[in-house]
Amino acid sequence: MTGSDDRLSIVVVGASGDLASKKVIPALFALYCRSLLPESFQVFGYARSKLTDDEFRKKITEHLTCRYVPNESCDEKMAEFLARCVYVAGDYDSAESLRSLSGSIEKWEGGGRSNRMFYMAIPAFLLEGVTKSLGQVGLNGSGVDMQWTRAVIEKPFGKDRESSDMLAAQMAEVFDEDQIYRIDHYLGKEVIQNLMVLRFANLVFEPIWNREYIKKVQICWSEKLGVEGRGGYFDSYGIIRDVMQNHLLQMLAMVAMEPPITQDAKDIRDEKMKVLRTIEPVTLDDIVLGQYRATEREGFRHPSYVDEETVPGDSITPTYAAVSLRLQNRRWEGVPFVMSAGKGLGMHLTQIRIQFNNVPGNIFCRDGGCLEPNHLVIRVQPDEAIFLEIMNKMPGLEMKVKNTHLDLRYASVFDEDIPDAYESLLLDVIGGNKGLFIRSDELESAWDVFTPVLHEIDSGKVRPEPYEFGSMGPQRAQDLAKSCGWIGE
Ligand SMILES: NC(=O)c1ccc[n+]([C@@H]2O[C@H](COP(=O)([O-])OP(=O)(O)OC[C@H]3O[C@@H](n4cnc5c(N)ncnc54)[C@H](OP(=O)(O)O)[C@@H]3O)[C@@H](O)[C@H]2O)c1
Repeated sequence: MTGSDDRLSIVVVGASGDLASKKVIPALFALYCRSLLPESFQVFGYARSKLTDDEFRKKITEHLTCRYVPNESCDEKMAEFLARCVYVAGDYDSAESLRSLSGSIEKWEGGGRSNRMFYMAIPAFLLEGVTKSLGQVGLNGSGVDMQWTRAVIEKPFGKDRESSDMLAAQMAEVFDEDQIYRIDHYLGKEVIQNLMVLRFANLVFEPIWNREYIKKVQICWSEKLGVEGRGGYFDSYGIIRDVMQNHLLQMLAMVAMEPPITQDAKDIRDEKMKVLRTIEPVTLDDIVLGQYRATEREGFRHPSYVDEETVPGDSITPTYAAVSLRLQNRRWEGVPFVMSAGKGLGMHLTQIRIQFNNVPGNIFCRDGGCLEPNHLVIRVQPDEAIFLEIMNKMPGLEMKVKNTHLDLRYASVFDEDIPDAYESLLLDVIGGNKGLFIRSDELESAWDVFTPVLHEIDSGKVRPEPYEFGSMGPQRAQDLAKSCGWIGE
């Protein structure tokens, strides 16, 4: 249990959509199966589509899985959960519609003490209207019999510093900062949560986690898919806003921050904030942009980005970016943090690669060439793993040295199921733990890193370099981001 016997009303705004049915509601079901939701809870799906309760239940059932209950009791668990899911149809910016939602919630709550969570699973442009209307009908507040009301919002949080500030100001008219949970689901991923443990609960890493011993940090995100049907959204954002300014920068902050004083949300977020503030704003000289072009392989032709449905034929939106960031602080000055992110690439991979310096005076360097330095690789997806690349003597009578890796693949080392990031983050929302959510000042600093260069890109000053769909990205980026490389098989 969450430790609370209080009633919980969970409102999923945009319940007819993708995120709600594929991620949010399955995560709630998983928590229910593990008895991690309060005894008394109800899920209210809210969207414009005219659905009955049964139609809504049918729609969400498709994505529920019984990972946490034995197969024989799966149907029973699903039926119990679905009985607690109801649907209310209404407009997002209509106080009248939201009054009807409020009526349904109050009826279920029956006048007793209750908490409320609003999960905003809607496109960003709808957020202002729905927030305002929630405020108008008093669904933002903590009434006499209420403990808390929390609003969970999804990226994109604006398109640059200015629009992000505007969105924050609009939200602040209705919700206090401590009611707002800005989700970045990468922070809920198991390996990213483990970063703090890896760094601060082991003696071996922290003493060498600095410019003296680390040569370079690479954070890469590569996806095999193109924009596939999301061209409209993607084209107005591009890869920097979609992936780098949020997911990758958050990972960077976890790698580069100083040890927080405690595990408390405030202490963690203070340290992340400090790191983000030390990053110099990116310029066009620090960045390589790309856009995928058509490829024909084995009789299959993948269209170019500009031929994708809903993408304008003359779009210069980047589908790939590689950037070298500089952190101006005592620990990291002079160490490049290289981030790369791309769609339509040759592999599906998200990982952090930390490259250590060469061993000074290495007696195993031969013929003018030196051996590979150590690398620590933290793989986020497709499978969670940590590798440490080290030099080893090959077994045998000769002194042959080879680069090998210590291999901690979660699937083979841990018996436990790896929870989906949304399960972990929703549990944190219910428990009021904000450590893995983005504070408004963190968001401001993250935008400050990219806003100037985004404005230059938006003004058409730079054309992305074409790269073949399914390749490793633009040629010019190869030097910057080349060796993020796959390990294992
Ligand atoms: N999908 C994901 O896995 C994912 C991952 C990370 C972040 N996000 C973010 O989460 C939010 C929701 O994503 P989503 O994929 O679930 O979005 P979505 O399916 O496009 O939209 C959710 C719901 O919003 C309503 N809606 C959509 N477009 C609308 C429009 N033009 N006018 C009025 N209502 C509209 C629709 O419901 P009705 O028509 O029934 O009202 C739709 O079912 C977005 O901000 C997205 O960037 C999504």
